[in-house]
Amino acid sequence: MRKKIIAGNWKMNKNHNEAVELINSLKSGIDTDKSDVVVCVPYVDLLSVKEAIKDTNISLGAQNMHFEDAGAYTGEISAPMLKEIGVKYVVLGHSERRAYFGETDETVNKKVIKALQSDLIPILCVGESLEERELNITMEVVRIQVKKALANVSKEDAKKVVIAYEPIWAIGTGKVATKEQAEEVCKEIRTVIEECYGKEVADVLRIQYGGSVTGDSANELFNMPNIDGGLVGGASLKDDFIKVVNY
Ligand code: PGA
Repeated sequence: MRKKIIAGNWKMNKNHNEAVELINSLKSGIDTDKSDVVVCVPYVDLLSVKEAIKDTNISLGAQNMHFEDAGAYTGEISAPMLKEIGVKYVVLGHSERRAYFGETDETVNKKVIKALQSDLIPILCVGESLEERELNITMEVVRIQVKKALANVSKEDAKKVVIAYEPIWAIGTGKVATKEQAEEVCKEIRTVIEECYGKEVADVLRIQYGGSVTGDSANELFNMPNIDGGLVGGASLKDDFIKVVNY
């Protein structure tokens, strides 16, 4: 049985004070027995949110990192830096980073490898654009993203990875994928994992759905056989996150 994992992706929202206020208003309502719960917050909020969740089972996540440990990379944050302050998960390859910050399958792959070497759990994001869906090439696109991102990742490491299937057309649009659409692609991702790593890995690797998940849609999505939870943007910034997590 795979334990569900539900992660809030706060994106570039909430300053230091607002972050503490938000997490304090959410934490007591969140049930961490049924699911692993993660909040992926802006870098400057990591330490204060860590302090605020220290008496809970909520885990801390970051939204990106560099693939080198240290060096002349102005403005970047490394995996060891994140690890040192208690970060457990890191979102990698989010479509917004691919679209606005030049993230490629190759850089995502380097980051996945570095995260695993640094004992961070990658939440690897993949997903097709609306154009790709309409061209009927969703499965090809997602297959390639998964394979490239996991190139040279060992079987033992692959088990730890969380994959978030996030159709780009569903992100921040209010246009959630149907449970059938989401399940179909998550199932295909599991098939790719089985082809690359065998059934043992495919059976344990967790696959989330993300894209306009709310408290109202969480239950039907997360109850599909190949959907092991969600990566949640907008709804993670309000009380609705409690409803999502306690679906
Ligand atoms: P959304 O964002 O829930 O606001 O659509 C999801 C994400 O980008 O991870």
